[in-house]
Amino acid sequence: MKFFIDTADLNEIAEAKSWGCLAGVTTNPSLYARTGGKLADFEPHMLKIAELCCGLPVSAESTATTAEGMIEEGRRLAALAPNIVVKLPVCEAGLAACRALADEGVRINMTLVFSAPQALLAANAGARYISPFVGRFDDIAEDGISQLADVVACIGNYDWTGKNVDDQVEIITASVRTPNHVTQAALLGADIATVPFGALKKCLKHPLTDAGLASFEADWKKVVEQA
Ligand code: E4P
Repeated sequence: MKFFIDTADLNEIAEAKSWGCLAGVTTNPSLYARTGGKLADFEPHMLKIAELCCGLPVSAESTATTAEGMIEEGRRLAALAPNIVVKLPVCEAGLAACRALADEGVRINMTLVFSAPQALLAANAGARYISPFVGRFDDIAEDGISQLADVVACIGNYDWTGKNVDDQVEIITASVRTPNHVTQAALLGADIATVPFGALKKCLKHPLTDAGLASFEADWKKVVEQA
């Protein structure tokens, strides 16, 4: 399973990328708002992320509310850089815009997916990536991982050749809150997990790793002191 980072913060992206295991970035309007960015800076900011990511896929979300608006904004976003993926919400307008943009060779990440039927509709409309949300189910005391399991199984049952520019659909586990979400997503065979920076750091940390490092350092110091 590949790791994407779920943020619009350039410093977080740069740090995660420096670890050498980052495969992409997802953003959304809330994540952009959190950077304090202005409306006029939105597209230049997406371009900066795309350049920082040197070819890795970067999802930039349309905020238009009609299919025509999404198509127009999607074309603009996709033209910013070859690694921009246009993110669209799964709804009537989003599906129509997805089909139109996919037919033009634009990669689409269909977001706000909460069910297997929504995922199947998105894949049939030409989505290159599908983002089922896990944490938001857990927030309302439902089981996000079992919903993800349905999406992974349903999409995995079919061949998506001819549906989009890359002839494949990848599942991005979204709305990830914990390392356990990452483990469960990988056990289910989800292709990607997009993880906020804080949760990504939690994925790396383990108290036994810290204790092991401390004892190796202490023992090595003794060897050096005796030399
Ligand atoms: C997906 O790409 C979304 O940006 C994101 O995962 C939403 O997560 P949230 O539920 O933490 O807002």
